[in-house]
Amino acid sequence: MSEPQGRNEVAVDIHTTAGKLADLQRRIDEATHAGSARAVEKQHAKGKLTARERVELLMDEGSFVEFDEFARHRSTDFGMAANRPYGDGVVTGYGTVDGRPVAVFSQDFTVLGGSLGEVFGQKIMKVMDFALKTGCPVVGINDSGGARIQEGVMALGMYGEIFRRNVHASGVIPQISLVVGPCAGGAVYSPAITDFTVMVDQTSHMFITGPEVIKSVTGEDVGFEELGGARTHNAVSGVAHHMAGDEKDAVEYVKALLSYLPSNNLTEAPAYPEEADLDVTDGDRELDTLVPDSANQPYDMHTVIEHVLDEGEFLETQALFAPNILTGFGRVEGHPVGIVANQPMQFAGCLDINASEKAARFVRTCDAFNVPVLTFVDVPGFLPGTDQEYDGIIRRGAKLIYAYAEATVPLITVITRKAFGGAYDVMGSKHLGADLNLAWPTAQIAVMGAQGAVNILHRRTLAAIEDPAAQEAKRLELLADYEDTLLNPYTAAERGYVDAVVMPSETRRQIVRGLRALRNKRESLPPKKHGNIPL
Ligand code: HXC
Repeated sequence: MSEPQGRNEVAVDIHTTAGKLADLQRRIDEATHAGSARAVEKQHAKGKLTARERVELLMDEGSFVEFDEFARHRSTDFGMAANRPYGDGVVTGYGTVDGRPVAVFSQDFTVLGGSLGEVFGQKIMKVMDFALKTGCPVVGINDSGGARIQEGVMALGMYGEIFRRNVHASGVIPQISLVVGPCAGGAVYSPAITDFTVMVDQTSHMFITGPEVIKSVTGEDVGFEELGGARTHNAVSGVAHHMAGDEKDAVEYVKALLSYLPSNNLTEAPAYPEEADLDVTDGDRELDTLVPDSANQPYDMHTVIEHVLDEGEFLETQALFAPNILTGFGRVEGHPVGIVANQPMQFAGCLDINASEKAARFVRTCDAFNVPVLTFVDVPGFLPGTDQEYDGIIRRGAKLIYAYAEATVPLITVITRKAFGGAYDVMGSKHLGADLNLAWPTAQIAVMGAQGAVNILHRRTLAAIEDPAAQEAKRLELLADYEDTLLNPYTAAERGYVDAVVMPSETRRQIVRGLRALRNKRESLPPKKHGNIPL
């Protein structure tokens, strides 16, 4: 007879078939309730779900198949022998999300604080290997006290193994991290390597060193939320891609992301083909009056994006970070597209370090996963300032050039207004390899705006005029001359740097036709081990 092991159990005779079956059932019950009732209650009281509840929320109902639910650690130090819960604090397996295969690991804070030891690490490695072999995305749900202190270097070794797998899977299968609790120390580097990180307001925290260590080393006083909460990593550091209001919202966002991505780099993202109406609609005509007469007046680039995408649906990524550039996904004729767009409402749409890195990473993500990129340009240039220069705008801004120039997915660029200086080249220009470049009649493609140009070109002429009124009159005349000569799309069109100057209202149908034509685009780069993107 096996002895009752826990709640609601009766003794079973494991020497009979019925007993063996009952014994398995008992073990399954024990594995599914590995966290104590007190720990589960504490978890819920914080507004957090348990590891299994999260998996259920993510996966299609009844689709989850678990790996290694009876795996458990074999440590004996520090009284560990007396506490060997099934599953070892992480739930792993595979199932489907919206009918498509997805692998998952979900760290269980209610069991040993979700801390990562040898067996815990091996379970994650197994499910990552499974995802890579079968070419399906992996979603990592992080809620952990970090390296299991009692297991010492074994825990550290396992983190290293996971990092290596994250890197090898990068660009092969989509990897998405949900951070729904603590994620501290080196543990943060697994989410950091994945394609997207989603955090929940108030309940998730990521940091390399916590508030106490910071206090003792630098004397700074900082709380968990301010140091590594969802808002900090969404708005300040750019580590996270979405700040969810609660865990349900976080999981919905992950599902939405998955819907725009293929299962792996050798397949296409799911499409829901529907033929677009190629007539110019009243909605399309709204774009004809969007750009203000004054070049200094902003307008919301979201409006342009929403007019082009199916149902106006735009899933923004990193919406709170570097809002001077917009990135995200949508669909055109049911096929996923990535969007990169300057936002004139923020810093006049200037490119700075954060915007460059945000867009560069996004373009590379799209390129890795066969998602065409639509770029909307209204950029007065790079943000001037010593901060930017000292922080490396040269090498960090270069990432965006690199990302566009190495991208082989279909690239369509629309210049709506300003495309000045280096920023013209950077933002998906023909010269970097875009396939179709369109410009609106309001486009201004030049080395710089009129004010700057006149100040440089005619400084001596203007200085020679003593009478201020006459000087101003001359300045206005020179400005008008510069604007009329160079601030238009036609010089670029003359040279084929833009393929067509189109009415704003024609943008949608031009993009639809362009994407149709580019659907079979095949382009490859010279063979190499890998490029050397400036990091
Ligand atoms: C073993 C751990 C643990 C850990 C938590 N627990 N973290 N056990 N190793 N790293 C256990 C606790 O002892 C406790 O067990 C249970 O999990 C719940 O933890 P609490 O402290 O009660 O929870 P809470 O008050 O919510 O605090 C959560 C916490 C805190 C802030 C995460 O537990 C904490 O500070 N943990 C240590 C974090 C840490 O320094 N980790 C190492 C980071 S370095 P009982 O039995 O009492 O329920 C790292 C390196 C990675 O991870 C290296 C990669 C290269």
